[in-house]
Amino acid sequence: MKSMSLIKALFLVSTTTLLPLSTVYAEVQPRTLEIVEEVCKYCHGSEGEGSNAIYPRLAGQHKKYIVKQLTDFREKRRLGTMNEMAEKLTDTEISELADYFSAKPVLTHKVRNKDLAGVGKYIFTKGNPYSDLPACASCHGIDGAGTDSLPRLAGQHKRYLSSQLSEFNSRKRTNDNAIMHSIASKLTELEREAVALYASGLGK
Ligand code: HEC
Ligand code: HEC
Repeated sequence: MKSMSLIKALFLVSTTTLLPLSTVYAEVQPRTLEIVEEVCKYCHGSEGEGSNAIYPRLAGQHKKYIVKQLTDFREKRRLGTMNEMAEKLTDTEISELADYFSAKPVLTHKVRNKDLAGVGKYIFTKGNPYSDLPACASCHGIDGAGTDSLPRLAGQHKRYLSSQLSEFNSRKRTNDNAIMHSIASKLTELEREAVALYASGLGK
């Protein structure tokens, strides 16, 4: 009986902390691969690594978050280059593309400017009590891994992170910007660059 409950406990641990089994074993449909190879790859890379620092990495991003963003791009709730890319995607394709990219192994960056990253670490883990800024870690996790509905920041390109913080601040990022607008508007330029640098080096 004891070993049974151990197995049960292990099963619970493995299903809550690892990728859902459905993601790991989901068969990638030929149509999904075709879309990746013909469209997404040029900006996000076939493995979701992000072919250039202005394009977000999708590797290891949470499925639910990817589905939400792609749907928002399709419905024009979030505006940008992606509107055209998402325009013709069906719900099934969106779900399969999200399965595909969320299952790719996460990547990180080597951070050279340790002093700047140190400022970023402070902001990320403690916030800034002088400007009433909450710690990023309180929502995105101390390791920046995010949750089902909160994006993973760890290992994301610094340039993308910083650009999104600016867009949240100016409300150019139009979908669900309430929380992140209030946060981004409290960041100084130095803090924004520092926290983006620090988060880009998290992970692995
Ligand atoms: C021409 C370049 C380009 C192509 C091709 C492209 N994307 Fe994007 N994608 C972007 C840019 C740029 C962003 C960042 C948002 C912005 O600035 O508009 C983005 C953002 C995203 C996001 C949101 C990520 C986040 O962290 O919020 C997802 C998900 C996404 N793309 C999925 C896809 C998928 C799936 C495909 C293939 C169907 C695709 N993209 C094709 C350029 C591209
Ligand atoms: C109260 C919770 C909360 C806190 C604290 C918070 N965030 Fe967020 N953040 C969110 C939510 C929710 C989203 C997703 C918005 C959406 O669904 O479009 C998000 C999205 C983001 C994104 C967009 C990621 C992407 O892939 O496009 C970045 C970048 C980001 N947050 C950075 C930060 C930083 C840096 C801090 C600390 C200075 C921080 N966040 C603190 C809740 C939070």
